Amino acid sequence: MQKILVTGGAGYIGSHTVVALHEAGFEPVIVDNFSNADKSAIDGIKAILQKSPTLYQGDCNDAAFMDQVFAKEGKIAGVIHFAASKAVGESVQKPIQYYANNINSLLVLLQTMEKHQCPHLVFSSSCTVYGQPDELPVTEATPKKQATSPYGNTKAVCEEILEDAVTAKYPIKAIALRYFNPIGAHPSAHIGELPIGVPNNLVPFVTQAAAGIREKITVFGNDYDTPDGTCLRDYIHVMDLADAHVKAFEFLEKQNQSSLIEYFNVGTGKPNSVLEVIQTFEEASGVKLNYELGPRRPGDVEQTYADVTKSTKLLGWKATRSLFESLRDAWNWQQKLSQ
Ligand code: WQD
Repeated sequence: MQKILVTGGAGYIGSHTVVALHEAGFEPVIVDNFSNADKSAIDGIKAILQKSPTLYQGDCNDAAFMDQVFAKEGKIAGVIHFAASKAVGESVQKPIQYYANNINSLLVLLQTMEKHQCPHLVFSSSCTVYGQPDELPVTEATPKKQATSPYGNTKAVCEEILEDAVTAKYPIKAIALRYFNPIGAHPSAHIGELPIGVPNNLVPFVTQAAAGIREKITVFGNDYDTPDGTCLRDYIHVMDLADAHVKAFEFLEKQNQSSLIEYFNVGTGKPNSVLEVIQTFEEASGVKLNYELGPRRPGDVEQTYADVTKSTKLLGWKATRSLFESLRDAWNWQQKLSQ
């Protein structure tokens, strides 16, 4: 079985991708420092895989540690790099920490991969690089805009690092997957999103409100230029997102060039508003939500959603799960957490 290193493999998208890799016949090897993940995710993965995944606890910024992982594992066919700090709000408060962690970890990884002749990299990027697009839906050719947060800028800078490396014929074959809004959980409810503290993102806040952990939901603005006045986003089931990583690696393996970088949007292509998420959640869970209309949240883009033609055509990938299924799975996971 081909080994795939998954940095941040105990995290939300990482853990679901570990499951998808196993189901696709690969051997996932997890690297995580548990700075933003819980050991319970490893137990959840074990419950699904019916075996313990290989795990190295350590920091991707630690070159000696990363060298050891590659040396110990022998032939690693590719790396999926999730490990990064990813809270938009926190990045505004701690920009240096975000640049140090998110940029340096990629540089250490690239140097370690070169030393161990591992050419295939799938990089976790974000639709944040597009900012508020002038045209919708967003294609990979949509011009990138100045990021609205240090977090978003670390993703844009990492893409530029890969671009420059490929221009210099660095031996890397990379794909940057630009995620839209990942939501939901594995249908088994053994793994899911584990926000630390008060959730920033809509769906974990909704599920916590439904579970009585949060008193009510505030809808951040209903005076946008959208059908119901609330922001539009492209909410994608985390398992669809996980599957896209497997397809991305398989695409890389088929490419003959020794250096390449390709960008792919990973979304459903269907926009939904905040009020539609709330309404769909009530249908999927049977729980009536307590929400109020409040002021806009600074930094929010009004609307963004993906054109996934390129991902479908070149990766042979398409999202298959509906918003209803994503919210049903998110609720099942929340209920499991509340047990
Ligand atoms: C979605 C919509 C809010 C909470 C962020 C990051 C992005 C990516 C995904 C990492 C917005 C509204 C939210 C609430 C609300 N993360 N909302 N009440 O901001 O689109 O994207 O997460 O890659 O980089 O920016 O996601 O879930 O925070 O917000 O009305 O209590 O829900 O205003 O319109 P966002 P989100």
